[in-house]
Amino acid sequence: MEQTIINANGYSIFIGNDVYDTIRSFLLQFEFHGQKIFVLTDVNSRKYCLPRLMSNIQLFQQVHILEVPSGEEIKSLATCEYLWQEMINNNGDRNSILINLGGGTISDLGGFAASTFKRGIRYLNIPTTLLAMVDAAIGGKVGIDLKNIKNQIGLFTIPQVVFVIPEFLDTLPERQLKAGFAEVIKHALIYEKRYWDDLTSKTLKDIKDWKEVIDWSIEIKNYFVLEDPRDTGFRKVLNFGHTIGHALETYSIQNDDEPLNHGEVVAIGIICESYISYKKCNLPKSELDEIVQYVGSNFNHYKLKSGNFDLIIDIMKHDKKNRADEFNFTLLTSIGNSLINQDVDINMIRESLLFYQGLKQ
Ligand SMILES: NC(=O)c1ccc[n+]([C@@H]2O[C@H](COP(=O)([O-])OP(=O)(O)OC[C@H]3O[C@@H](n4cnc5c(N)ncnc54)[C@H](O)[C@@H]3O)[C@@H](O)[C@H]2O)c1
Ligand SMILES: [Zn+2]
Repeated sequence: MEQTIINANGYSIFIGNDVYDTIRSFLLQFEFHGQKIFVLTDVNSRKYCLPRLMSNIQLFQQVHILEVPSGEEIKSLATCEYLWQEMINNNGDRNSILINLGGGTISDLGGFAASTFKRGIRYLNIPTTLLAMVDAAIGGKVGIDLKNIKNQIGLFTIPQVVFVIPEFLDTLPERQLKAGFAEVIKHALIYEKRYWDDLTSKTLKDIKDWKEVIDWSIEIKNYFVLEDPRDTGFRKVLNFGHTIGHALETYSIQNDDEPLNHGEVVAIGIICESYISYKKCNLPKSELDEIVQYVGSNFNHYKLKSGNFDLIIDIMKHDKKNRADEFNFTLLTSIGNSLINQDVDINMIRESLLFYQGLKQ
C-alpha cells in the first residue's frame, strides 16, 4: 500500500501502514545528535499502539515513555506539571522532542506541554483514534481545559510532522470509531460531492480500508486550515453540525446517565443543520433525504424530548459564538458547498429539533 504525503501549514502528514521506515529515518536524525526523545501515551495507546512501533522501529526501545491515564480529565494543568517535571527529571532540555502517541486528548495535551516547556520544544503526532487522525492531530490547535471548560488555555503551534498509521484503528472500540466518523461525514458534506458519493457507497461497518477515507478527510480539513491557519473566519466551515452539536453535548452531559459523545452529537447536529440548510439555503430536499438516510444508517436515533428544547436553546445562548437571539451557523447550499455566518433564529432551531425528533429509525 502506498504512503500518502500531504503538505500542511509548515509540516508534512504521512499516511500509510508502511510509514515505519519514514518514522525511523526521521527519528534517527535526533538520535544521531543525541537529543532526548520522549513519547507521551495514555494507557490504551501504550497498550495497543506502542508495541507496534517498538517491534517495527528499534529506536523505540530507547525512548523515554511518559504515561498518563485516558480521558478528557488529563487535559489539565496538573498533568502538564507532571509532564514538565518528568521531562526535567529525565534530562529533557530545549533540544528534546516529544512524540504524542494517542487520541485527541494526547495531541492536545502533549502539543501544549511541549510548546510551553522551555519556551517550546519540538513535537510530532502519531494519532491513534480516527478523530485524532482526521481532526485533532492536524490543524495546529493545542490546549488544555480549565476546571470543566474545554480548551480554555492553549495556542496555535505546529508539529514537526504527523504520521498516520490507519491499522492502529484495529483496536479502537466502535463507539470511538464513530466519534471520528461523524467528522469524516462532515468533511465530505462541506467540501466534496465526489467524496460524499464514494463514502456513502458503504456504511462504517463495511469499511475495511481506512486509508482511503483518512486520506480524503485529512485533505479536506487541511484545505480549510491552509486557507485560515489561525481560525479567524473561513475555517468556520468546519463548524458545520457543531452549533447544535455542541449545545447537545453539554445538554447530554447534564441530563443523561450515559452522555452522548462528541461524534454522536455532531451526527445529530449534521441532521438538524442540514434541515435548516434545506429551509434557508435551498439545500435540495433529495440531498437532505440522502444525508438523513446515511447518518441514520450509521448512528442510532437519540430520543429528544420536546420539553427539553428550551434547555438546549438556552445552552446555545450562552455560547460566545452566538449573539442574543440570532445564532451563527455554517450551512449547506448543496452537498459539497457551504456558507459561513448564516443567522438562524430560535424558531428555526426548534423546528430542526422537531424534525430530528420525528425521524423514525
Ligand atoms: N485540537 C483540535 O483541533 C481538536 C479537534 C477535535 C477534537 N479535539 C480534542 O480531541 C479530544 C478527543 O479526542 P479523541 O476522541 O481521540 O479521544 P481520546 O484521546 O480520549 O481517545 C478516546 C479513547 O480511545 C482510547 N484509544 C486511543 N487510541 C486507541 C487505540 N488505537 N486502540 C484502543 N483504544 C484507543 C483512548 O485511551 C481513549 O480511551 C477532545 O479533548 C477534543 O477537545 C481537538
Ligand atoms: Zn468536532
